[in-house]
This record gives sequence, C-alpha cells and structure tokens, in this order.
Amino acid sequence: MVALTTGQVVAQPMLNAGNIDEVIKAMTIEEKVNMLLGCGQSFGGEVKFPGTAGRTYDIPRLGVESAYLADGPHRLHMTKTREWDSKTYITTEFPSETNVAALFDTDAAYQIGQAIGAEVRDFGLDVLLAPGVNLMRSSLCGRNNEYYSEDPVLAGKIAAGFINGIQSEGSGTCLKHFAINNQETNRNNNDSRLSQRALRELYLKNFEIAVKESNPWSIMTSYNRAQGLYTCENRDLTETILRDEWGWNGLVMSDWNAGKDAVASIKAGNDMLQPGQQGQREALLKAANDGSLDMALIDLSVKRVLEFVLKCHTPNGYVYPNETDLKGHAALVRQIGAESMVLLKNADNTLPFNPAAHRGFAAKRGVALYGVTSYEMVPAAMGFGGTNVGPYIVSLVEAARNAGMAPDMTLAATYKKHIAEKNKENYPNGVPAFSITAPLRASEWVPSAEVLAENVKNNDIAIITLGRTSGEGADRKREHFFLTDEEKDLLKVVAEAYHKVDKKVIAVLNVCGPIETAAITEYADAILCAFEPGQECGNSVMDVLTGKVNPSGRLPMTWQVAFGDAPADQNFPADYVFDMSMFARAYSKDAAEKAQITKAPELVRNVDYTEYQEGIYIGYRYFDTFGKAVAFPFGHGLSYTTFGYEIVSSGINGDECQLEVKVTNTGDRAGREAVQAYVKAPKGKLDKPAKELKAFAKTKSLEPGESQVVTLKWKTMDMA
Ligand code: BGC
Repeated sequence: MVALTTGQVVAQPMLNAGNIDEVIKAMTIEEKVNMLLGCGQSFGGEVKFPGTAGRTYDIPRLGVESAYLADGPHRLHMTKTREWDSKTYITTEFPSETNVAALFDTDAAYQIGQAIGAEVRDFGLDVLLAPGVNLMRSSLCGRNNEYYSEDPVLAGKIAAGFINGIQSEGSGTCLKHFAINNQETNRNNNDSRLSQRALRELYLKNFEIAVKESNPWSIMTSYNRAQGLYTCENRDLTETILRDEWGWNGLVMSDWNAGKDAVASIKAGNDMLQPGQQGQREALLKAANDGSLDMALIDLSVKRVLEFVLKCHTPNGYVYPNETDLKGHAALVRQIGAESMVLLKNADNTLPFNPAAHRGFAAKRGVALYGVTSYEMVPAAMGFGGTNVGPYIVSLVEAARNAGMAPDMTLAATYKKHIAEKNKENYPNGVPAFSITAPLRASEWVPSAEVLAENVKNNDIAIITLGRTSGEGADRKREHFFLTDEEKDLLKVVAEAYHKVDKKVIAVLNVCGPIETAAITEYADAILCAFEPGQECGNSVMDVLTGKVNPSGRLPMTWQVAFGDAPADQNFPADYVFDMSMFARAYSKDAAEKAQITKAPELVRNVDYTEYQEGIYIGYRYFDTFGKAVAFPFGHGLSYTTFGYEIVSSGINGDECQLEVKVTNTGDRAGREAVQAYVKAPKGKLDKPAKELKAFAKTKSLEPGESQVVTLKWKTMDMA
C-alpha cells in the first residue's frame, strides 16, 4: 500500500501473469528503465550466485523478482566456492556442442539439455545462456566448440533438441549469438558483410529452425555488426525477421556490453541490455523523459522482461536443493561423450582392441601414451562458455587403468617432467586457468630411439593424443591448424618403431576443431576424433578404443586438407596478431584511453569488417560443388559394424517430403547409424550447391542382423 496524499491509500499490484500491464503502469520511469538493464555493472550489491552472468532487475514493492542467468553451453558456469560459505558448488562439464552435433541425434541433444536444465534449477538459477548456434564458417573461429556445425539444418535441429530438453525441466534458454557472428577477432566491432542469399540460406536458417522447433525463452543478439549495424541495434533482425516473420515473441537481450547506443537498441526491439551500464541507464532515462524514446516501446520491452521472469523458477518460489545428480550426469557424459566421437580411420580393424589380452609374461596389457594431451586432456572449451575447470578430468592414464590395462608409467613420468619444464618456460608466473591465445599448453616431446626401443618392448599398443584448444575472445591462427614439426616427428618415430614389430599406433584427436591430418593418416593405423567430450574425457576415449562403446559420431564440419583451401579462409583473420587493446576498444572507452587510442584507426580487412565473398559456399557446399579434395568430408564417421540401406518409401505429401529408410546392421557388433538425407536441387536461375543436408535420423542401437525403419521429413519450401 502506498499513501498518495494524507489519508488516501491505493493498493499496489503485485506481479502475476494476469496483471502485467497494471504492474507496468505502477512503475516509475526509473523503474521501467532499470527493467531494461541487467543487474551487472550498474547495480553492485551482493552477488547471490558468484561466477554466474547476472540477473534481471527486481522491484520488491511490485512483487517483481529477479531471474538469474548463468552461462552455458556445456557447463552451468559458476564459481566452485563462495565467500563465507563452506560448501562447494560442483556442476558437470558436459560434452561440447560440437560433440553433441556429431551425434546427429536430436534425442541425445534433448537428454543433455535435460541434464543441464536440471542443474540450472537445482542450483537456484533460472536460465542458461545457451545454446550458441552460429555456423562454423571457418575452421579457425575460436568459439566453434561452442557451436554445432557448418550446416544450418544440423545446427538448428540439434539446438532445438537441446533447448527443448532444458525447457522441459522448467529452466529457460537463451539462443545466441544472433546473428552472423562467425569470428572472435575484434568481435565487438567487426562488420559482417554478406549477401541476402547467404544470410537467409545459411546464417539465419540455423536460428529460424531452432526458433520454430523449440521456442526458446530468449535470444541474445551478438557483439558484431552486420551490414554496418550492430546486431543489437538492428530492428530488421530483432523485430521484422525474428518476431514478424518467424512469429516468435520472447525476450531479446544483448550480449554482455555489446553495441554502442542503448536507445537504438530498445528502438530495435532488443529489450534488455546486459550486463547494464550506468551510461546506458542515463541515456535511456534521458530519452524516456524527453520523449525521443517512445514510452510504448519501453513498456513493450518491459512487458517482455516480465513475461520472461514469470516463467522462471525463482519468482515461482522454487526451493532448490543446491545439489544435483552429479553421478547420473557423469554417466551420461561418459556415454554421450564416447558415442559422439568420430572414428576417422580404422585400417585392418585396428580398433577396437581387447584391453584384457595378456602378453604371456605380463599380467596386464601395456599401453604407451604419447603426446602432452594424453596427460593434459581438453574436456571443454576455454572462456565463459566452458571454463575448462569442471569438477575433474579423467586422464588417459586413469582411463587405461580403469579398463584393466597397464599404462607405461615410466613414459608418463617423462611427460610429467617435460610438461612441468615447458610450463615453467612458457608461464613463468604460473599456468593461467585459461589462455585465449594458446592452442596448447606445452610443445611436444619426441622420444629418442633408445626410449622408443624400451617402450616398444614393454607395450602392446601406442596411443598418440594430439590436442588443440580455443575459446571466446580470440580465433585460432593459421599455424594452429597445421601440425608442428614436433608433432609430425612424434607420429613418425612412434609409428616406425611400433610398426617394425607389428604393433599398432592409434591417434586420438582431442581438438576444438579440424586440424591438418595428412601425417596422422600416414602414420596412425586408426584415428579417433574425440573433440572435447567433457569431464569423463579419458574414460569416453577408452570406452571407444576398447569397443565398450561403438562410436556413432559423424563429422558436423568438413575437415579440409589445408587451411586456405576453403574460399572463406581468404576472408578470415587467420594471420592477424591478436591485440588486446584492439579487442577492448569497442566496448570500453576507458580501455581505449588507457591504450592511448585517440583517433579511429584505418579499417582493417577481416578485422574491422569481413566480406563473406564465398556467399553460400562454406563447408561441404563448397568442396562438393567444386570437386575439391578434403581430408574427411562432412558427415563422415566409421563404425565397428556395417549397415545396409533400403528405401522403403519416398514421396511428397502436401508440403512435406518424406523418406522411409530401412537400416540393417550387416556387421557383427551392435551399433547406431546416422542416416543423412541430402537434396540436390535442379539448376534454376541461381546456381545451387551440389547437395544440401535436409534431414537426418539416428537409429537405436541395432544388434547384428537387426533392422529399423527411420523416417526423414522436410518441407518442400526447405528446397526453395
Ligand atoms: C559471451 C556470451 C555470454 C556472456 C555472459 C559474453 O562474453 O559472448 O556468450 O553469454 O558473455 O557471460
């Protein structure tokens, strides 16, 4: 109750789903403006969930509570410990988005979504700022591991599965980064310039599918500009396309400190500016008061924020347990992590190998682990999306022991020493929790002939793990695609030593994205691409190598032979030396002043702007159409079994195409197949790619001889 004048008291509405307009009416202009800002930078005070991304503004007198937001996509990102609190807050490191996409299985994406959605709720949070659905335009984008694919159908449908899973738990999602955000270099300022066709067929299509098939609670605009405008200030994107064309009516929020003009953002239908800056608040207040920002627009955005908040656990009084099913989720990570791996090569059925095979004179099977990444596995991306500091990382040493084998511990000790020395050399002030510029912690160590002779004697099998990592804020550089000389030497000497005595060499690629594979294919008998499979990393790898799990991952992106082969490579900052002041300039005036940047620098190609000259020809759309060789094509992935296909029916029903395919396991091990339907459109006025993925389906695990009919559907309009 509020006293207006002496003796006169009016009731204040307390927010509920039925009185949103009334509550907005009861707000002061300041309160309305505050509702349009996140409670990060401008509001201070105690943080309820340290390490999370922030919350929405609350107005207790009107019953408006905050919604709490945390980063994903593959881990609920918050700090493990809190001040004045003896408890630890452990959340699961799930497989990367790339791994989830490699499953070609929307149900599996749903399952992962469910698990992380439960963690969000269990720890008192409301919304996971995920998934990221941007396309892998270049192999080197630093954030590709937070994204699904180079293909919009795969990316959009997997995202929809993930979103539906999270939202089935009552937790919210925020689909990001809308849109055309395909590089990290100068990400706050770079202008993506592209054709309408590429925009519609590729860079918006992924979002459109996800929006229509899962209705995410919110969408985050991106940092970059597109066609000259910041995406958060572009009404065409947020109102015309997202809401009018696609019929979506959720909340749009900006990325953290994106854009320049707060008033333009609200006018564009970008309802909430995150994390909220004092300058933005002042600008909005001024515009609201002088009428240059229409109150009706402010009210509309406030309404969207309130509708969003009302869906959340917090305002609905959910009492959270502050613990989650860590055991159950770890088992899911191990299983999905293993299934999502892509078997690139398997000469002479090298894999799976029997971990229990004794060598006569030793009790356990000896396994020699080479490569620094065997000992420093990469479970996840670096940066806010995946801190690389999940609860634990299962190493290959531990996993080999779990599988009943004997990892060569003399070799392990040598690596440990090498890594410690390199770390001391590279990071004299201590190894950082994550470094956005380092693709690897330590360079490789190449064993001498004597060491190798000893290794070969004591072990039955050699595993060489090669690693690459990346994270938000920087792109990988050209040299990170290629193998280093030490890596090539390592492959060569190990392969020669083991092959001489008829022992096998297996390469495991624990990578954030494609790398050069010529030498790996030449020297390794089998190649398993693990990507970044989550906290159970070593176990998931070993489950595949030993045949406990039959891998059913398929590449969600093309593996080109060399960086430079794809036309987009010519328009990507592959050689641009990362410059922090450049990076910071776009969003922090202070940083710019500190760095003494006084006048606008000349525009640098691929840094200040990027021309998408390749049009629609990214990934397989380019390589297939122009007949260019690749190392491994999109959709590739071997299995320990074989499958036969039979088309049961095909046809067009109204506006829908349908294909029924009978898949039979023709091999001698249980396994799952990813069925992919590509369409080749006849040439009309526009040139067309050789083929495009339109639908996919994953079989259940089929026993030898067992069949399953899967149905693939797509709209006729999808072929337009
Ligand atoms: C990232 C977003 C993230 C946000 C909040 C930004 O730097 O680009 O993906 O959700 O921070 O942490």
